[in-house]
Amino acid sequence: MTTQIEKLIQSAKEKAYEETDSAAEPALTSAVEWPVKCNVGLGLEGAVACETTIGYVNGSKGWLIYRGLDCFDLSEFSSFEETSYLLIFGKLPSSKELADFNAKLAEYRILTDEEWKAVNALPLGKGHPMSDLRTAVSVLGLLDPTAEDTRVEAETEVSIKLLAKVPALAGIIARVRKGQEPIQADTSLSLAADMVRMMTGNAPSEEDAKVMDVCLILHADHGMNASTFTSMVVNSSMSDMYSSIVAGIGSLKGPLHGGANEAVLKTLEEIGSPDRVDDWYANARTKKKKVMGFGHRVYKAYDPRARVLQPLAELLSKRHPEVEKYYEIAVKLEGKVISELGKEKKIFPNVDFYSGIVYAAMGIETEMFTPIFAVSRVAGWTARVLEYLKNNRIFRPRGIYVGPAYVEYAPIDKRG
Ligand code: SDX
Repeated sequence: MTTQIEKLIQSAKEKAYEETDSAAEPALTSAVEWPVKCNVGLGLEGAVACETTIGYVNGSKGWLIYRGLDCFDLSEFSSFEETSYLLIFGKLPSSKELADFNAKLAEYRILTDEEWKAVNALPLGKGHPMSDLRTAVSVLGLLDPTAEDTRVEAETEVSIKLLAKVPALAGIIARVRKGQEPIQADTSLSLAADMVRMMTGNAPSEEDAKVMDVCLILHADHGMNASTFTSMVVNSSMSDMYSSIVAGIGSLKGPLHGGANEAVLKTLEEIGSPDRVDDWYANARTKKKKVMGFGHRVYKAYDPRARVLQPLAELLSKRHPEVEKYYEIAVKLEGKVISELGKEKKIFPNVDFYSGIVYAAMGIETEMFTPIFAVSRVAGWTARVLEYLKNNRIFRPRGIYVGPAYVEYAPIDKRG
């Protein structure tokens, strides 16, 4: 029987394909001849960094595919575990392959005594949870005797370890921040459900578990975004997978990237009620403030992930008056931004706009939203690091020097 969540995803998919612009489908390339000619803008806009078969963001249509599979279909039919396998190994697993993969994930999800003690001994909860997570992943790297082995097989195994262990770390961090005892994994649950349990102390309902699973699927990979590129740059010096993921977490943390999900909830809190949206927006525009959760370097259409997350946020927010109020403010703000900037600047909600409302409805603290993004993006980071490693060349772009050509050295007592 089709569940309500599946129906919502189907309807989001229909909208994405109906409302798409009429531009012809960009031709996909099967072989790249290097060097590639491209126009490069500030922030490496338009630059081509590598060839990939992992995922494709169709920015003009608002479609997203992983290894050729539509993200709407994966959200409806797949699981985060299966999607991670797809991203890392390049194909959907057979039943046996998925069972073996899940068994490994289950084994690794339970932190060893040494890992548990080392992570719990950290001064967690004093700074931002993304800083906690970055440090905790680094500690896992110190304890893993295989960490320095940069062969593809060894880094693949580390990728599976990280996929399993990062949710457990997020669980510890969430609980320590609230002064609660951390809890170990329950491997009878899916990774998504167990992450919620390890954070909140309660196993989620079947519906919440499916919603969180969909969230993890939708955040798993997204082209050469800043944190993915960061992870790849780090590994391209033949450093190691832990260093790459630590760097990816550092990059994702910023409010222009994954940190926007937290910033959105803070914006909704600041606005306070739907009738204040117009004034808040007018003031933000006067001050030339970016509206968090809107705009994208690649999407010039509605982000397909936001298409799914919006109805899920609506569904879950109905349970809590406070969260429902945030949802109502968000819908009104979306209408305002699209009517003012949608046509002219092609500014639409991105993945970070509605995700926080979903997490808030599950009782998750606002500061933990970006760590949830990181839990999922480990799949994309590791998949792309591994793909690039197979034909590695160190990244080394140029900066154009625009300073003076020659300045005579002045002794310290002769300087102005
Ligand atoms: C993620 O790259 C990825 O794939 C990232 C991601 C992933 O899955 O990995 O999709 C996840 O990072 C989503 C984005 C989360 N960030 C935010 O929501 C923060 C708010 N958004 C913006 O700061 C911005 O839109 C970015 C950072 C997302 C994109 O930056 P760009 O490509 O450098 O665009 P820009 O800042 O140069 O803006 C272009 C124009 C400007 O107007 P003009 O100067 O040309 O007149 O669009 C305007 C901007 O002022 N604009 C916005 C806006 N975003 C862009 N105006 C108001 N509010 C906004 N949010």
